[in-house]
Amino acid sequence: MITKLFYNASIYTPVDHGSPAAGLAQSEIKHFEHGAVLVKNGMIADIGEENKVISRTGSEKIHQKIDCKGRCFIPGFVDPHTHMCFARTREGEFEQRIQGIPYLEILKQGGGILSSVRAVAQADEDELFEVTIKNMLSALKTGTTTLEIKSGYGLDTENELKMLRVIKKVAEHTPLDVVPTFLGAHAVPLEYIDNPDAFVNLVVDEMLPAVKDQGIAEYCDVFCEQGVFSLSQSRKILKASQGLGLGIKIHADEVNDLGGGGLAAELGAVSADHLLAVSTENIDKMAKAGVIATLLPATAYSLRKPCARAKHMIERGLAVALATDCNPGSSYTWSMPFIFGLAVMNMGLSPAQALTASTLNSAYVLGMEKQAGSLDKGKQADFLMLEGKTPSILAYNAGGCPVKAVYKLGEPVSL
Ligand code: NIG
Ligand code: FE
Repeated sequence: MITKLFYNASIYTPVDHGSPAAGLAQSEIKHFEHGAVLVKNGMIADIGEENKVISRTGSEKIHQKIDCKGRCFIPGFVDPHTHMCFARTREGEFEQRIQGIPYLEILKQGGGILSSVRAVAQADEDELFEVTIKNMLSALKTGTTTLEIKSGYGLDTENELKMLRVIKKVAEHTPLDVVPTFLGAHAVPLEYIDNPDAFVNLVVDEMLPAVKDQGIAEYCDVFCEQGVFSLSQSRKILKASQGLGLGIKIHADEVNDLGGGGLAAELGAVSADHLLAVSTENIDKMAKAGVIATLLPATAYSLRKPCARAKHMIERGLAVALATDCNPGSSYTWSMPFIFGLAVMNMGLSPAQALTASTLNSAYVLGMEKQAGSLDKGKQADFLMLEGKTPSILAYNAGGCPVKAVYKLGEPVSL
């Protein structure tokens, strides 16, 4: 057994009360000014004020002592919503969008998500693997130690399974924990444009059973949006997924208020994501049902839209999580420090709320709360050292990366 002591650390961690932190609890942060963490075999064995942790170790042999030099010490980021498995970026489309062509208009013309679908169909698994792992390692360097990756650029059984196999393989080749999500209903392929219900049937009758059979996804997601999948089509897919024992989540109310947040509440989804246009009525339904609001401020930034009403959501008792939405279209970033900065500066979260949202609550979105999301005895030793005195540095140092060291299971990641 390898025992390590991280000492002289200024520790900040959300408090895990056994459920996602909602409302006022989202601001609750534990701070040890002169803190220490004892790590045994990659797991946190003790944490607290340095003198207390050291006295509790007694005569135990410590193999390595790491002086954190008074630096700010926080849990590794958990990014619960990414599409970072893709074949090519879409710079041309970005140019169109900044000239004012709307995101959904580009999709309607067969571009956007559908152009990524064509690229994935042409790519082999090695090419996809290379792009995905590059994105993941970039995320790891900026402090993400656990993340979700969705399929969704396949849109047929063969290519969706191909993406999910690549996601499984990248998980085996990096130190990050990866949670795979099946997103077969990400867009309606052009050949189904006159009969989208037939595509919904394909997802339900063929893709979902195949995904379940191979055991390569934990969640199912749907892009519920005007011109993409309607509320009733989304309900059908998500209910079928639940029937197969998959967890469910939903891209909801991103551009138009279709009622996706309400559907998440009705079905007991783990999270509803985006929510730029969600109504207060559905915010209240989500809060009552315990659905987590996963907010993606870099998407609002990239689409030049007003952010989701994060403060309002927290005030109404909703638990808020933060994610990059890393994808080649609406949010080409893997940086959780950037997301943290946008959450504080553009959505009005306090640094404490942003910290909870990007670690503890996002771990709950992924069902990873027993392993990750806070610095507690029994969880994985996934943590970051920041240059700066408090987690506020993540917003204050705009465009920089104050993450100076990343530890996964107590091991340093080379940056
Ligand atoms: O979450 N909105 C739908 N899906 C992604 C975008 C994917 C893409 O544009 O490639 C999102 O923003
Ligand atoms: Fe997304």
